Amino acid sequence: MSITLTMIKPDAVADGHSGKIIDMIIQAGFKIQAMKLSRLSKEKAEEFYAIHKEKVFFGELIAFMTEGPIVAAILEKDNAVADFRKLIGATNPEKADEGTVRKLFAKNIERNAIHGSDSDENAAIEAAFHFSGLERF
Ligand code: RTP
Ligand code: MG
Repeated sequence: MSITLTMIKPDAVADGHSGKIIDMIIQAGFKIQAMKLSRLSKEKAEEFYAIHKEKVFFGELIAFMTEGPIVAAILEKDNAVADFRKLIGATNPEKADEGTVRKLFAKNIERNAIHGSDSDENAAIEAAFHFSGLERF
């Protein structure tokens, strides 16, 4: 079994889509190891998305990700990283497959409803970023 880290982003939480998205995740066969409502500070958001700090959209991304609460979760499944990115769809919802979380709930390439880790290594780093050992089951 492997893990991935997700965040239901502030747009989707504010619009009341968290429950539907969590149901899609469970129906797709992911087991929830940890989950909480949280809010990123500017510093924590900059740390989480440090890989994008030179990008033109970095400032906007940090403003977006700190504008309200998120739902963070660690998800367990065989092939978790790749299978989860398939479930959420392409970064740009215009390019996302039918039935994916982003196709259903994303507004645009930035306000795209959900995050998924991009590698096993980053999943482990991101899981430890959001959760202590006592919060994982
Ligand atoms: P994520 O890390 O959030 O799961 O998304 P991703 O791998 O599909 O996309 P990534 O390239 O890592 O980008 C991180 C997040 O930055 C925002 N973004 N905005 N305005 C833009 O052109 C743009 N491009 C990316 C999105 O919120 C994206 O998910
Ligand atoms: Mg990414």
